[in-house]
Amino acid sequence: MSVLEIKNLYARVEDKELINDLSLTVRGGEIHALMGPNGAGKSTLGYVLMGHPNYTVTSGSIRIDGKELVGTTPEERAKNGLFLAFQNPVAVQGVKLSTFLRTAYNQVHPNEKMSIQDFYDRVKLHMKRVGLEESFISRSVNDGFSGGERKRFEILQMIILRPKIVVLDEIDSGLDVDALKMVSEEIKEYYSQDVGFLIITHYQRILKNIEPQFVHVMMNGKMIMEGSNDISLKIEEQGYDWIRGA
Ligand SMILES: Nc1ncnc2c1ncn2[C@@H]1O[C@H](COP(=O)(O)OP(=O)(O)O)[C@@H](O)[C@H]1O
Ligand SMILES: [Mg+2]
Repeated sequence: MSVLEIKNLYARVEDKELINDLSLTVRGGEIHALMGPNGAGKSTLGYVLMGHPNYTVTSGSIRIDGKELVGTTPEERAKNGLFLAFQNPVAVQGVKLSTFLRTAYNQVHPNEKMSIQDFYDRVKLHMKRVGLEESFISRSVNDGFSGGERKRFEILQMIILRPKIVVLDEIDSGLDVDALKMVSEEIKEYYSQDVGFLIITHYQRILKNIEPQFVHVMMNGKMIMEGSNDISLKIEEQGYDWIRGA
């Protein structure tokens, strides 16, 4: 079982503090929701966890199974079992989806010897399950993909890379009801006692399909409330003002 431990984390862009004394632990088998209004710093936390070069950690730690990730490359973090599905996945022109997946897989699992045939059989199986047609395999990554197709491809990457700690940033945005159902089913299928999830969302919508045991609310780069899924239900009914007041 893996554990992600974020302790007293502070991070900034240039001279702007965006993450302020944030602590959070996600263990294998746990589903956490991270909620908060627009601009709270949720996506920033995802980027900081993944080691995006725009963000500087000024103090605190991010550990997976005791191993410090601050100061390591995004590739090393992926190798240590961390995965982030982006809120706004970018297009990578000239890189085919097949090549992208194979390269990422080899980076994350350098010692696994899966044949090319087995690998693509697996990719094709899961493309079908997330609702991407087989023809996508030879298209450039996210190039001309709709918002929903980009989200489906993020989930496909998760399945293929088999991370231990999964951060999903607004995975439900841009998905219609049927697509959300399909993507939620694939997430639930992947969920196990070995995998911990951090589901970032400002709506309660996806949490109806994937019920979290823990809900955290962020504002201005800080965790300001933590508890059970009752919090997400109350946010659905009343928005964030009652938390601001509390
Ligand atoms: N690279 C950046 N440069 C300057 N400000 C940034 C940068 N990235 C994020 N921010 C700011 O940080 C705040 C939090 O943004 P974000 O993490 O995207 O919020 P959320 O995902 O909760 O809606 C916003 O005010 C945003 O403008
Ligand atoms: Mg965001």
